[in-house]
Amino acid sequence: MIICRTVVELQKAIDLLKTPSGKIGFVPTMGALHSGHLSLIQQSATQNEVTVCSIFVNPTQFNNTEDLIKYPRTPDKDIALIENFCQILFMPSEKEIYPEKASETYNFGKLETVMEGAFRPGHFNGVALVVNRLFAIVRPDRAYFGEKDFQQLQIIKAMTRQLQLPVEVVSCPIIRESDGLAMSSRNARLSDDDRTLATNIYKILNTTLQKATHNSPENIKKNIYFEFEKFPQFKIEYLEIADELTLQPVCNFPSNQKARIFIAVWLGGVRLIDNQVIN
Ligand code: PAJ
Repeated sequence: MIICRTVVELQKAIDLLKTPSGKIGFVPTMGALHSGHLSLIQQSATQNEVTVCSIFVNPTQFNNTEDLIKYPRTPDKDIALIENFCQILFMPSEKEIYPEKASETYNFGKLETVMEGAFRPGHFNGVALVVNRLFAIVRPDRAYFGEKDFQQLQIIKAMTRQLQLPVEVVSCPIIRESDGLAMSSRNARLSDDDRTLATNIYKILNTTLQKATHNSPENIKKNIYFEFEKFPQFKIEYLEIADELTLQPVCNFPSNQKARIFIAVWLGGVRLIDNQVIN
């Protein structure tokens, strides 16, 4: 794996490895890599000649300074995890991505006013800003994003449509720990007790959905709030049942379109998100 820290180094590495008709797959990340990230890299490796992964903890998408400071950084472990699956790792400095203060603004309409967008003002503008810059630097044919951050995935798809970027956005399923907890770099910040408790996020959503075959979205949400009351350590930031494409809350299950349940909770000072499709 070639490790590049500058745009010039990255473009040289791509020129070295890519044949004229070969495709570039790109997996942008913020590091502290786990099997969820690795699954994106592996999918890219099966579909492209060259796979590029980036690790950049993007300051413009953090609306909370403490979250940015505490974001886990494990570069040596990250390199060891992916080196056999990925040809190029791009680890730029902040100056390399933002030589000047960034000022572009994006408008994703109703996609960004709900859930993560509502609770993390400016977050998606920062995500779009960095992903658009990384796309311009890497020039991938395909880019891989996880359904773990389902709203982010829809925002990136909207951005590529709006800006007519020649990139295929590929969505990848959520990878979970054996007890169901969605893998996340932030899980490393949980205490042992909270890590044990965190499995209930998946379990409560999953068991409530399985029992709720004829329930309305409102009743499903009520049942989930009720189950979480048994664990006062959790603070639910939002719980939403929304249309998969528009991300707008639904009162009834749409017959022609899938709905998903989305949750964000705080547990011991750590913010965790998850979602599940509703069949
Ligand atoms: P990060 O949180 O590092 O995630 C990088 C990619 O890995 C995202 O597409 C995310 O959805 C995916 N991912 C994380 N956990 C996953 C899991 N358990 N299963 C499947 N995929 C998972 O998302 C970001 O970084 C940033 O916002 C970024 C897009 C890199 C822009 O800075």
